Amino acid sequence: MSEKRLTGRKALVTGGARGIGAAIAQALADAGASVMIGDILADLGKETAAGIARSGVKAGFVALDVTDDGQWEKAVSATVETLGGFDILINNAGIEITSLVVDLKAEDIRRMLDVNVLGVALGMKHAFRAMRPGGAAGAGGAVVNVASVAATIAFPAISVYSGTKSAVDRMTRVGAMEAGKLGYGVRVNCLYPGLAPTEMGMKLASDIVAVGLAPDVNAAVGSVVEQTPLARLAEVGDIADAAVFLCSNEARFITGAGLPVDGGMGM
Ligand SMILES: NC(=O)c1ccc[n+]([C@@H]2O[C@H](COP(=O)([O-])OP(=O)(O)OC[C@H]3O[C@@H](n4cnc5c(N)ncnc54)[C@H](O)[C@@H]3O)[C@@H](O)[C@H]2O)c1
Repeated sequence: MSEKRLTGRKALVTGGARGIGAAIAQALADAGASVMIGDILADLGKETAAGIARSGVKAGFVALDVTDDGQWEKAVSATVETLGGFDILINNAGIEITSLVVDLKAEDIRRMLDVNVLGVALGMKHAFRAMRPGGAAGAGGAVVNVASVAATIAFPAISVYSGTKSAVDRMTRVGAMEAGKLGYGVRVNCLYPGLAPTEMGMKLASDIVAVGLAPDVNAAVGSVVEQTPLARLAEVGDIADAAVFLCSNEARFITGAGLPVDGGMGM
């Protein structure tokens, strides 16, 4: 078999059962990496992993709620054991609960902070521990955190979500700084995807209608497209290709960066 960009690499993708995570997992596999999917959706996660395995790489599923420190430890061990190493982490799992500021609910704020901020922070922690010299995998690697164009613009009805994604952006920089300075051999970058028509993306479009900011879903989507110089929504493959790049040797001198994949919406 000819060498591909990520041949021999071993990846864990959180929230990889569906949507952007599933597309990133497939793209990593297409580039030659073996892949573990970590998600709270076991049936769908196993199905997605089985689909990826059909493309000829090793692929598996591990139950992982990214808000749980203990489950992270088990997921990293399972990745090292199943794939024979661990040198790519895609911190993709995330949730969005739409609300105008005046209607925010404390429990929704806490839930978004838990999954989007705590989840990414724990992911970096366990990836660094495993990938740094002397760690369970010990061969360095790459972490890609999935932030959002929401970290770079002001979009109504997603204030807390946007705040959590700005936190992901900042944690990416500090993580990259520590991993570089402390000689872990791990690069850390993030992506700012634009609106993609996944379950999350389409629910946001209908929520925008529900809070009275657009007359219907077509108008909500149309307004995003209008704000996007390349004049379309993101496709999951756009985001997946950028993730593959950031994990690859072509990005070997890139760390602490945020890469927009938003058709120019956030420029
Ligand atoms: N869809 C968009 O328009 C868009 C735009 C910018 C950024 N993003 C970000 O991309 C990422 C993926 O979004 P998506 O559109 O594919 O969403 P999605 O809702 O379709 O999929 C999210 C996945 O994350 C999993 N997940 C949720 N909570 C989890 C937890 N606690 N532990 C483990 N897994 C968990 C879900 O089960 C699901 O498989 C998110 O971080 C999201 O914020 C999405």
